[in-house]
Amino acid sequence: MPTGREVGRYRVGAVGLAAEVRGEGPALLLLHGFPLDRTMWRHQVVALTRWRRIAPDLRGAGASDAPESGYSMAAYADDVAGLLDRLGVARAVVAGLSMGGYVAFELWRRHRDRIMGLVLVDTRSDADGGDARRGRDELAAVARAEGPAGVAERMLPRLLGRSTRRTQPALVEQVREMVGRSSVPGIVGALGAMRDRPDSTALLPAIDVPVLVVVGEEDEVTPPAVARSMVAAVPSAVMATIPGAGHLSPLEAPATVNRVVGEFLETIPGA
Ligand code: MLT
Repeated sequence: MPTGREVGRYRVGAVGLAAEVRGEGPALLLLHGFPLDRTMWRHQVVALTRWRRIAPDLRGAGASDAPESGYSMAAYADDVAGLLDRLGVARAVVAGLSMGGYVAFELWRRHRDRIMGLVLVDTRSDADGGDARRGRDELAAVARAEGPAGVAERMLPRLLGRSTRRTQPALVEQVREMVGRSSVPGIVGALGAMRDRPDSTALLPAIDVPVLVVVGEEDEVTPPAVARSMVAAVPSAVMATIPGAGHLSPLEAPATVNRVVGEFLETIPGA
């Protein structure tokens, strides 16, 4: 089993998952967005040293197995619960960005005893409507026809905020490369899982662990208004808006995100 800074492989059910596990202390599980991998949390993995940071590649992403089928929010959530089992972790603070947030809601639905706090980053609780569902199928067709590069071309302008696109060209290229490393089965599987995910809005009023909602002020995918509506629905929630960042705020403005998440983690009872 890995200790310190290592990327390990863990068999969970029928899939092999890759995960970076770093440090000691209470557990912080970092769930990436779509169509990305665990490296989108690299700044938080480096900075949040009081915590045992666990950053997996979800099935289909990064260095994890990418089966042809078997993708759903339930499968992702059961995978990461199984990963916590493999690591001997009973409870974790769960941070999820966008699709990672959808997985965090599903973990809450299926394994809430494993969660001691939630960090919901650039995400939303509602399900896809008709246009969004059709958009998933169209993007899946792009993935099959053009591969991940075609998906990157379509998605990049909305993933990163306008300030980042103007001032951080190297990061734009890093994200393009990250998307480009994605597998077609992983992309198509994730799109189907997001299209068919349940609405989690009804869960919000009953969430009884500390919650931090983080949003980039230039996020066009899950804008600040969406974050505010989640904060209004969760009794314990506090909100942090990240200036100059878009949908990938942990990569775009890492120092600010590390500060607000670090301060929030200090408030977790018993951690
Ligand atoms: C993500 O960043 O995970 C996706 O943009 C989420 C989505 O498309 O709903």
